[in-house]
Amino acid sequence: MQTILVTGSNGLTGQKITENVIASGKFNLIATSKGKNRFPVQNGYQYEEMDILDKARITALVEKYRPDAIIHTAAMTNVDTAENNKQEADRLNVEAVKLLMDICNTYHIQLVHLSTDFIFDGEDGPYDEQAAANPLSYYGKTKLQAEELLKASGVKWAILRTILVYGIVKDMSRSNIVLWAKGALEKGSPLNVVNDQWRMPTLAEDLAEACLLAVEKKAQGIYNVSGKDMMSIAELVYRVADFWKLDKSQVQEVSSASLGQQASRPRRTGFILDKTIRELGYQPHSFEQGLELLNKQLG
Ligand SMILES: NC(=O)c1ccc[n+]([C@@H]2O[C@H](COP(=O)([O-])OP(=O)(O)OC[C@H]3O[C@@H](n4cnc5c(N)ncnc54)[C@H](OP(=O)(O)O)[C@@H]3O)[C@@H](O)[C@H]2O)c1
Repeated sequence: MQTILVTGSNGLTGQKITENVIASGKFNLIATSKGKNRFPVQNGYQYEEMDILDKARITALVEKYRPDAIIHTAAMTNVDTAENNKQEADRLNVEAVKLLMDICNTYHIQLVHLSTDFIFDGEDGPYDEQAAANPLSYYGKTKLQAEELLKASGVKWAILRTILVYGIVKDMSRSNIVLWAKGALEKGSPLNVVNDQWRMPTLAEDLAEACLLAVEKKAQGIYNVSGKDMMSIAELVYRVADFWKLDKSQVQEVSSASLGQQASRPRRTGFILDKTIRELGYQPHSFEQGLELLNKQLG
């Protein structure tokens, strides 16, 4: 059985990977994250505290467990935080990847790295894996830099790029677009949503499954991993409202420029998924199927 070490296991993707492995029993899992374990089940895997900037700790755990693969989900994931904290973004999104790369080289470990649609400028999405990158935000720049380092590293690497991940896990350190929209619609509070950005939102379970398929198939190269439905953010919010039969009258469509966010966002991203479907056997849910699953989990 292959042994996988996951970084950032307390996060959305990390917890979904843990859940998937426990359910499938297909891998030995070493879940690692900063601080205490926030995944509610303690059996069926090992948890170890691990900061992705702590090379000695990572090396010690790699020596102890000898993983076949590392799935690297930990990062500075908030786009505006990265814009305002560039040094910290460099450390978490670039330096940490260098550390992991070195260790994976030394111990011959496959590195499955998560990247983003924000490496693109959004002028001509949906993108295939070969499309030219041109990040608009500092977050996008750091993620692209990490990709470039990996490609030149000699490590057995797979880069899984993803888009606007949604889902629910325990003790989330940050929300996501679907939970935010549902919460605001339920309260009936006015909500401004942009109608000039298009995305293909990704169910967290689908991303977790793709990460595990990449390990199982010893994938190497770049893979697009998103949902299959393209929509504007405004449309996404309307679809959330329709699904839970919530009042849409407080939704105000606005332009991205009017929001004055710190970091610029690409207009239209989205991915062509053919390669990932063909090579990994990836089968994403539709957006409404994703909402159905989320609805069951919300109880
Ligand atoms: N979410 C999206 O929409 C999206 C879109 C495109 C790409 N991605 C990429 O996909 C990956 C996973 O995203 P996600 O949404 O699952 O992220 P997430 O929910 O924010 O999880 C990241 C986890 O990493 C942990 N972490 C942060 N700094 C750490 C450190 N120094 N050492 C160890 N762990 C640390 C965080 O811990 P705390 O919870 O304790 O802070 C968090 O649990 C990231 O690489 C992200 O860039 C995400």
